[in-house]
Amino acid sequence: MSLARLQVTEFRCLQSVELDLDPHFTLIHGPNASGKTSVLEGIYVLGRGRSFRTRRLEHLIRLGAERFVVFGQVETPHRRVPMGVEGARTGVRAQIDGDRPSSLAELALQLPVQIIDPEVHRLIEEGPSRRRRFLDWGVFHVEQSFVGHWQRYQQVLKQRNAAIKGRQHRDLVAVWDSDLVRSGELLNSARARYVAALSPHATAIGRNLLGLELSLSYRSGWAKDQELAEALQQSWHHDLEAGATQVGPHRAELAIRLGGVGVKDRISRGQQKLLAAALLVAQIKLFPEGSPVQPTLLLDDPAAELDEERLSGLIAEVSTQSVQLVVTTLHGEFSAFGTPGRRFRMVGGKAEESY
Ligand SMILES: Nc1ncnc2c1ncn2[C@@H]1O[C@H](COP(=O)(O)OP(=O)(O)O)[C@@H](O)[C@H]1O
Ligand SMILES: [Mg+2]
Repeated sequence: MSLARLQVTEFRCLQSVELDLDPHFTLIHGPNASGKTSVLEGIYVLGRGRSFRTRRLEHLIRLGAERFVVFGQVETPHRRVPMGVEGARTGVRAQIDGDRPSSLAELALQLPVQIIDPEVHRLIEEGPSRRRRFLDWGVFHVEQSFVGHWQRYQQVLKQRNAAIKGRQHRDLVAVWDSDLVRSGELLNSARARYVAALSPHATAIGRNLLGLELSLSYRSGWAKDQELAEALQQSWHHDLEAGATQVGPHRAELAIRLGGVGVKDRISRGQQKLLAAALLVAQIKLFPEGSPVQPTLLLDDPAAELDEERLSGLIAEVSTQSVQLVVTTLHGEFSAFGTPGRRFRMVGGKAEESY
């Protein structure tokens, strides 16, 4: 099951683009600013309900337009399932097979999409929220009840924080605690299980790509030897001071060590990129076996970021996997992944099939 068809309307520089994608490998080439990354961004928005380049929806809407629409058809054994995301300045709305999903996260169940782009090092360099999002996307595909617990946790946390900010009595804040603890512990254990499963894959890929020992560990967001309930109790004065709950899975971190040292600020930009790519590829390797959906991996101009040896190492890692690749490149003769099943040339925001 892969993304068979993509239609993008009034999105970035793309007025109207339609592509039939190959289930294995599609190449999109063209000069700078021809709209290659925008096509990948369209696919990403379809599977995530958000962009990897910006948080601001108005940037995605073509200049002068009111809204964008990204529409796709996912191939399944029986039929093509339609899905779409429409974005206006006020927000996005999604549709899956004619229904409105209760959460944008449901898009990911139809179209699990991952990107390795020139900004991929931000996964390592930036704060923990990016790494939590990385983890949560992965956990969601392995344990589908996760999204319900996640939503519950976010709702309760919001209520609890509002009560703290409103300077309500401790007892009134504490009414939220049992719910927060229940969903928080579920989140925590699901993430910890996921990191344990991801680790060996990440280590193996890290060794191949970087020649260094990569190790992952999950930090829950409260003291190791405590239950969340106890940590919440102890944190009361800090919470009051800060005006928000200071412990819990919303403060969790995926700690990464490379060659025995913490990676933040210690390794080069190039290593950060490889490390982030290794983590994303590990996540694809961990994708549930026998799952009817196959992940779509977007590679934005990999030739500009990686030398040939690293690039072929990366390719070797994903080539054993059932994954749909969509790759952009400046030149059409890019052959590092073999022959593309389909190849498109972008010219001034339009896509032409090129042979
Ligand atoms: N909201 C928008 N409306 C119209 N054009 C846009 C918008 N956002 C970006 N662009 C334009 O799109 C072009 C970049 O497209 P991009 O997909 O990044 O190209 P490529 O990846 O081929 O270099 C730039 O010329 C940029 O100015
Ligand atoms: Mg680009």
